[in-house]
Amino acid sequence: MSTNLFSPTTLGQLNLKNRFVRSATWDGMGFSDGSFSPAQVELYRNLSAGGSSLLTTGYIAVNPQGRRNPEQNLLSNRKQQQSLSKIIEVIKCHDTFLQAQLVHCGGLASSDLSRQPLVAPSPVEHPLFEEIPQELTENEIETIILNFGETAARAREAGCDGVQIHAAHGYLISQFLSPFTNQRTDDYGGSRENRTRMLLESYKKIREYVGNDFTITIKINGSDYLENGLECQESLTVAQKLTELGLDGVEVSGGTQVSTPLTPIPKAIKAGENEVPFAAEINAFAEALPIPVIAVGGIRSLETAEKLLSKGVSLISLCRPLIREPDLINQWQAGREEPSTCNSCNRCFIPAFKGKGIKCLQEK
Ligand SMILES: Cc1cc2nc3c(=O)[nH]c(=O)nc-3n(C[C@H](O)[C@H](O)[C@H](O)COP(=O)(O)O)c2cc1C
Ligand code: SF4
Repeated sequence: MSTNLFSPTTLGQLNLKNRFVRSATWDGMGFSDGSFSPAQVELYRNLSAGGSSLLTTGYIAVNPQGRRNPEQNLLSNRKQQQSLSKIIEVIKCHDTFLQAQLVHCGGLASSDLSRQPLVAPSPVEHPLFEEIPQELTENEIETIILNFGETAARAREAGCDGVQIHAAHGYLISQFLSPFTNQRTDDYGGSRENRTRMLLESYKKIREYVGNDFTITIKINGSDYLENGLECQESLTVAQKLTELGLDGVEVSGGTQVSTPLTPIPKAIKAGENEVPFAAEINAFAEALPIPVIAVGGIRSLETAEKLLSKGVSLISLCRPLIREPDLINQWQAGREEPSTCNSCNRCFIPAFKGKGIKCLQEK
């Protein structure tokens, strides 16, 4: 058993009992009115009992127009907030923290669902988008930034220990960062500084709403793996700027749904063979940043997790391994040496897309 992986550490205000994080996972179990369901309370109860020190919620939309599917949670009213509090009540006894991931899906949202136009930085035809989105006006951008702040404040009031800004995977903030999807000529487009503005202002607004004694992380692509997309050096510069502003941690992911060969949920990962496809970017972040770096994507074994720690990574984030085995961390801590048995087939999405919630379909 690795002592390092099971040694405590800090992330912003949080004293974490070990180095394992459950990465943000849409579970397809939210109620269509945006509130959290009893099934989600049970899911989080199991995850917290399973040993991770920090759980990240699935992506919560900061307003209904930024929502992608009907099971995606919202945090716009009291009912939704109270339903989130029920999750916090059941995880605390396991010494587990919860951070709420906040997103606006932009051109990847569903206009059918919101009955509002699809919006994005620019009205570009892009393989990511099913329809050409409308260009956001500066007033609309300011409203979304405000929505990030208000939603974060509701998460804090609900009892969450932190928030994570979803700036990865081709959603709205990632659309602003990428020169491919951001072709604006105003203060929010063009230069790197301008393309970063949406993220920086959202971060500052959240900080204004939650105060300095609350943990804020971001999830960002180390690279979009797209021609003319966000690349590592630029992404790192963005993270450095946010660090100066008081950001508490960065989870480094990669890709979009149309990137090749690497998408955010890479398939066919085999322990000891092709784990951590975003390793080059993750290690570059860990080397350059003074704040905790959280590695995600295709981590399946203790050896690989340890190696990441030895390169300066602070925390190990897992998604599919914990869908398959929610108590994997406890098992590893108790001496199990075998890697995760998740084969990264992504079939866990199948029941979720039928409205039945994520579930591992691989035979034992
Ligand atoms: C069912 C499912 C839902 C996901 N939902 C989210 C999400 O809401 N937000 C997010 O940032 N990433 C989401 N991801 C991506 C994961 O957080 C993670 O970055 C990715 O799966 C790679 O990690 P893994 O190899 O440990 O699964 C999701 C992945 C899966 C399989
Ligand atoms: S269905 Fe099971 S084995 Fe396949 S990716 Fe999902 S959790 Fe892993």
